[in-house]
Amino acid sequence: MNDFTSELSAFSQNFNRRLTELFSFSPHAEKRVAEAMYYSLSNGGKRLRPFLVTATAALFDIPAEKSFITAAALECLHTYSLIHDDLPAMDNDELRRGKPTCHKKFDEATAILAGDGLLTYAFELLSGPLNPFPADIKCNLCNLLANAAGAFDGMVAGQMLDLLTEKTTSTDDPQYIINHIEEMKTGRLLRFACEAGAVLGRASAQERQALIGYARKIGVAFQITDDILDVRGNSELMGKTLGKDALQGKLTFVSLYGLEQAEQIAAGLIAQACQELSPFRQKAKKLTSLAEFILKRQN
Ligand code: IPE
Ligand code: IPE
Ligand code: MG
Ligand code: MG
Ligand code: MG
Repeated sequence: MNDFTSELSAFSQNFNRRLTELFSFSPHAEKRVAEAMYYSLSNGGKRLRPFLVTATAALFDIPAEKSFITAAALECLHTYSLIHDDLPAMDNDELRRGKPTCHKKFDEATAILAGDGLLTYAFELLSGPLNPFPADIKCNLCNLLANAAGAFDGMVAGQMLDLLTEKTTSTDDPQYIINHIEEMKTGRLLRFACEAGAVLGRASAQERQALIGYARKIGVAFQITDDILDVRGNSELMGKTLGKDALQGKLTFVSLYGLEQAEQIAAGLIAQACQELSPFRQKAKKLTSLAEFILKRQN
């Protein structure tokens, strides 16, 4: 393991332990949905988004303990997006984070509800008393996350477009469409992670812009590498079934440009992302390492 992967793994262990404390099951009928939520949330994920929240907040000297609830809220929302992404009506997947998908382990209705539960829990965490920030910051975070996750230029919009391109042979510019899909379906939550750090730290407009610039580049690069790994990754390491994008006729950077060019595009975006961090100098070392990890990742 190199320095960054061991740092990410140490972070994940601590994060997973803290996450458990946020889930106490009631002995009532709704226990099933809480179990399904926690089943999908616990272990297995790389925790890149929480790591980003923590690392960007640290640029403004916010300790990890203080940004934990924001990081956990984002991971809840991200996990909801995965549960719904895997449903038969969407990507119809059976394996996620190395385990049967939520609808396979439980059932479809429970998986839909577990997604709904995690989505709403994210906002409960952000706005509630466990989040140790003043009301203006909490409100700002809720607004930003709703926008990033939503149907107007957010993750839901990206997922809609992703599904629509499976079924049409649209004559619209595919390069524009694919950029737009990746920016929305994956990029917006990664951007929230970085903007949240800026909000928690009351960053200047210039610092915030630099972080947004970084996030936009790594967001698209992250999805390009996901698409590359779908073709030539290792299913065991990835914890999901691969080779599905081609089967389902998805429009991806790989289907459009081929593997080699897609790799070059991702590498170019990562180089640009690192340049965006120049205002933070050495302080942004973790963010630079994370960007480089995206190109090398095997899971
Ligand atoms: C998977 O995200 C879905 C995409 C946006 C490509 P991750 O690769 O971050 O999944 P986990 O959280 O590590 O499981
Ligand atoms: C999903 O993209 C992005 C989300 C918003 C969940 P993919 O459909 O490519 O993600 P995987 O490959 O199933 O993780
Ligand atoms: Mg999908
Ligand atoms: Mg999928
Ligand atoms: Mg994929």
